[in-house]
Amino acid sequence: MPQKYIIAPSILSADFTRLGEEIAACESAGAGWLHIDVMDGHFVPNITMGPFIVEACRRVTKLPLDVHLMIENPERLLESFAKAGASRLNVHMETCQDLPGTLQQIKSLGCEAGVALNPDTPVGAIEAVMPRADLILVMSVYPGFSGQGFIPGSIAKVAEIRKKLDALSSSAWIEVDGGITVENVRKLEDAGATAFVAATAVFKHPQGAAVGIKALRSQL
Ligand code: DX5
Ligand code: ZN
Repeated sequence: MPQKYIIAPSILSADFTRLGEEIAACESAGAGWLHIDVMDGHFVPNITMGPFIVEACRRVTKLPLDVHLMIENPERLLESFAKAGASRLNVHMETCQDLPGTLQQIKSLGCEAGVALNPDTPVGAIEAVMPRADLILVMSVYPGFSGQGFIPGSIAKVAEIRKKLDALSSSAWIEVDGGITVENVRKLEDAGATAFVAATAVFKHPQGAAVGIKALRSQL
């Protein structure tokens, strides 16, 4: 049965010398998706991974690959990420000149299309494209690094998006990303979020990734 609430571990905090093992632990502990953070050193002050890592993940797991593109001009690389095996491509609205066109491009590549919002971007900025999105990604930290503190105002933002999606009868996911812990995950669920990204709470859990995922799931 498909899961109602998804825990999506972000491999940004995984031990890359044992990436396959870390992913296998997540899969058997009940992760719903694998979240892959792509950073270009321009849109965000950090550089991480590209299609090559997506392709490697695709070979070791059946989990959907939820790819978060924190890059300028994402439209230039969508095809590479789709070919590498991404299931969903999430673009930041702040990086798109023609957001409806970019979402259409993602769908024509056979992927689901998500729209991400920085903490300072108001919900109104994406209202027009909401009916075309498979997922809205609410950043609850400033993108760039794992291990930051959760921005509390994100809860109200989730509630605002939930209202608007319900008014559209949209079944799009609301995913929250950044600073997710056992302390805040339930509040976000109550506000209407359905998918929860976590890097630190999973991969830096003292008892390992599987226990980290189970701890988050136990709150939902
Ligand atoms: C931040 C990334 C997040 C990050 C989350 O720019 O988009 O996915 O890895 O890390 P934690 O869960 O440690 O805040
Ligand atoms: Zn992310």
